[in-house]
Amino acid sequence: MSVIDVQNLSKIYKVSSKKPGIQGTIKHFFKRTYRDVIAVKDVSFTINTGEMVGFLGANGAGKTTTLKMLTGLIYPSTGEVKIVGHTPFKRQEKFLKQMSLIMGQKQQLLWDLPALDSLKINAAVYEIPDKIFHQRLKELAEMLSIEEQLTQPVRKLSLGQRMKAELLAALLHHPQVLFLDEPTLGLDVNSQAAIRSFLKEYNQRYEATILLTSHYMADITALCERVLLIHEGQLIYDGHLEELVEKFTPYKEVNVELSYPISSEKLAHYGQVELVKGQEVRFLVKQENLTETIAKILAQLEVNDLNVTEPPIEEVVSQIFSQGNVDIVDKN
Ligand SMILES: Nc1ncnc2c1ncn2[C@@H]1O[C@H](COP(=O)(O)OP(=O)(O)OP(=O)(O)O)[C@@H](O)[C@H]1O
Ligand SMILES: [Mg+2]
Repeated sequence: MSVIDVQNLSKIYKVSSKKPGIQGTIKHFFKRTYRDVIAVKDVSFTINTGEMVGFLGANGAGKTTTLKMLTGLIYPSTGEVKIVGHTPFKRQEKFLKQMSLIMGQKQQLLWDLPALDSLKINAAVYEIPDKIFHQRLKELAEMLSIEEQLTQPVRKLSLGQRMKAELLAALLHHPQVLFLDEPTLGLDVNSQAAIRSFLKEYNQRYEATILLTSHYMADITALCERVLLIHEGQLIYDGHLEELVEKFTPYKEVNVELSYPISSEKLAHYGQVELVKGQEVRFLVKQENLTETIAKILAQLEVNDLNVTEPPIEEVVSQIFSQGNVDIVDKN
């Protein structure tokens, strides 16, 4: 069953285009001029119950804007959104009780109070009965291993502990649908991993539907089979992460172990040399030349071992971001 249903969603921001300086200010006062920023353009997708989907895109691609429309923080310019049957911008209680938006760079916990106090406030806001509150608190705190820190003022917590407490606060009402915008931003590697495995467990235990953005590809590869890729406001890919990599990777890495070292100049005849370490050589080879190149290497060089690998996913994705190779992708 589809839980998130987005049809032809667009958002145009009107940005005032005041010229700098006093003259500009005076001119702007009499005649305001605006320019349109198309942040999201005709985006459609659906997400089913229990899916965990990664939302990828370069800086300014439109991820946060989309998430804000999906959670009712801003109005769409055009298009339609249904989250578990609700229209987000109506901000109905029923809708709010079923979802949560977690933004890595924004916090809802009160700085000077222990997290526990903020959690109690949340419990009251969401009308969670006492018994259930304590039960969920115990369960989530255990899953996040944050039991001991909850009585400390939030300002005394480490960044990772604070993010865990934030998650606890955002999930106390057991939302079915979770929107996470950079939940691991700025965290150390261990905290990132902890948040990641928590999300995985939360998703499995409660069959929660999760849409997640992250600049750390490790989050996406660990959690999301399916990804959406947005480029300059347009959805340019919706499908498996692996297929995305395959489609976008114009080259493969051919790792060769030679019987004896060969000079770089000679090696360059076979392809773009990425690395030479004694007898070990790594070539970057275009997909379409792969078979031919491997045949040539095997025929002309003395080779102990040869294998073909994909370039690191971070590299592939950042390449896609920078080129935004829209035309080589088909949107399904
Ligand atoms: N409130 C706003 N007013 C005007 N323009 C905005 C506003 N918010 C975002 N934009 C513009 O809309 C576009 C999309 O921004 P958005 O924040 O959605 O990108 P993003 O994909 O979340 O980027 P990042 O990875 O940097 O978080 C950008 O060009 C941005 O400058
Ligand atoms: Mg953003």
